[in-house]
Amino acid sequence: MSDIIVAVDGPAGSGKSSVSKEAALRLGWAYLDTGAAYRALAWHCLDEGVDTEDADAVVARLADFDYSIGMDPQHYFVRVGGEEITRDIREPRVSAVVSHIARVPEVRVGLNDLFRRLMAENPKDGVIVEGRDITTVVAPDAPVRVLLTASAEARMARRSAELSAVSAEATAQQLASRDAQDSRVVDFMNAAEGVTTLDSTDLDFEQTVLALLDIVHARTP
Ligand code: DC
Repeated sequence: MSDIIVAVDGPAGSGKSSVSKEAALRLGWAYLDTGAAYRALAWHCLDEGVDTEDADAVVARLADFDYSIGMDPQHYFVRVGGEEITRDIREPRVSAVVSHIARVPEVRVGLNDLFRRLMAENPKDGVIVEGRDITTVVAPDAPVRVLLTASAEARMARRSAELSAVSAEATAQQLASRDAQDSRVVDFMNAAEGVTTLDSTDLDFEQTVLALLDIVHARTP
């Protein structure tokens, strides 16, 4: 197991992926994007023509889910069955169905086992693991646990800035509906006991990275 685990949870658009990856890079640590596994399984189901609303069929796909992810923040990749799908898992067709996958309890148990194995195999001194239930379920004993939040307006504005103006409104709606669906499965809007809240509403990217690094330094040797 990595010596130091930093668990980061937060809603879509909070910046948790980019901030966690940059902080891991500066620390020389590993970075684990757990949402990528849910997305990759959703992609795999779509690729195999599996109905993502059929929980039994989705669980059956776990058995042959040949998944690998790059935990080096400089060489991030996602592969299924040797095929690189790093960009494909961000496509709207995957975002539209990933919540179906994430609400299946057997999927969560199976992927959590995978995350713990990946953390255990990490050769670096530490790892920043980000998702929705890392502070509460995957690594509740991590020495550093952070909930990265931002106001709904700030999160929508950040997502919209990444997209063309034409699709921004539709995407903002999709984001809100995905957060609503996901938060029925795990509560990632409220910090659990002992979890530090980092509100990035009024912070830019660099300030948020520095704030996360401050929390890490304050809580680790
Ligand atoms: O962070 P993201 O948008 O890439 O996450 C993709 C989906 O996976 C999203 O619907 C929430 C879900 N997820 C989850 O339920 N638990 C995690 N630890 C990570 C992601």
